[in-house]
Amino acid sequence: MTDIQAQIDVLPGLDPGAQLLEVNDLHVEFRTRDGVSHAVNGANFRLEPGETLAILGESGCGKSVTAQAIMGILDSPPGYVTRGEVKYRGVDLLQLKEAERRKVRANRIAMIFQDALSALNPVFSVGFQLAELFRKHRGMSRQDAKKRSIELLDQVRIPAARERIGDYPHQFSGGMRQRVMIAMALALDPEILIADEPTTALDVTVQAQIMGLLAELQRERDMGLILITHDMGVVADVADRISVMYAGKVVEEAPVYDIYARPAHPYTKALLSSIPRLDMKGQQLSVIKGLPPALNAIPAGCAFHPRCAYARDQCRQDPPPPAYDVALGRTARCHFWREVIGDE
Ligand SMILES: Nc1ncnc2c1ncn2[C@@H]1O[C@H](COP(=O)(O)OP(=O)(O)O)[C@@H](O)[C@H]1O
Ligand code: SF4
Ligand SMILES: [Mg+2]
Repeated sequence: MTDIQAQIDVLPGLDPGAQLLEVNDLHVEFRTRDGVSHAVNGANFRLEPGETLAILGESGCGKSVTAQAIMGILDSPPGYVTRGEVKYRGVDLLQLKEAERRKVRANRIAMIFQDALSALNPVFSVGFQLAELFRKHRGMSRQDAKKRSIELLDQVRIPAARERIGDYPHQFSGGMRQRVMIAMALALDPEILIADEPTTALDVTVQAQIMGLLAELQRERDMGLILITHDMGVVADVADRISVMYAGKVVEEAPVYDIYARPAHPYTKALLSSIPRLDMKGQQLSVIKGLPPALNAIPAGCAFHPRCAYARDQCRQDPPPPAYDVALGRTARCHFWREVIGDE
């Protein structure tokens, strides 16, 4: 069976020639006793095969909720998608029944998390958990499934994979466990991998190894990768494009080089100036003053205005429109982007 046929079997109506992933005007809210939190307020982005899109922003900006809405694993209640589209190869996933979404989740779009321990089942060996995927979704024999599991652990560079296949998740180090989770996510050859802060809990050397591995696996498989992070330092080497999120909105989107060379949004600019740089050793880092807003009390006008060095009266009243075309392939959501981009 061809790859394309396998995809169509998973999801009738799927168009292999359509955009890999397209998120349009996504809105998610949480209805709690403290009121309604507008966690995602009109997120827009696209993803191509083989491309890495980084979603960047401080903690609490709605990055994980965006990923959960794409995957269909939102905590609901209290979370609800209230508007928008998540189109995978032309099919709006938000309109699917749960059984179909589950198939997409198992086969086409996979996700890895910061904490592998909570993503893996503690009572089964990693070999068993991997083999189950092949048996259940690919109808493999026990023996073939085991062989394939060992190959996959090899691919994610688990040393002595054959010997370790019977080990339980807690017997692996943090970095090795992250590799096991990557193996589980890639087992059924997804077209899209969403990695939500995959290296945040690891030390710097292991972080670099895991990022290197993800980049390599992505290249080999021509997979679309969405890398979610609060750490601007992590994305420079691996991302093709960056979407910067603030208070549930994408405030700037651009190819990685442009973001670093000429940020068009004051928030992006502030994030950049908070990255430690070798040539500034010993100097005080500028951190962004204040905190992102509580999402049940987002300021009127531009949500960033209380923290923005460029803010003026208009910003306190008029929300900037979703996207000013700053340049080809670049958008920013700021009334004064021309000033920001020119002011280097
Ligand atoms: N299970 C939940 N219940 C209520 N509110 C939630 C829940 N998950 C997320 N939120 C709200 O959504 C906001 C954004 O969360 P999240 O997407 O996890 O941020 P981050 O950008 O750090 O990944 C949180 O600050 C919170 O207000
Ligand atoms: S619209 Fe105004 S407050 Fe918002 S980022 Fe631009 S300058 Fe700052
Ligand atoms: Mg998060």
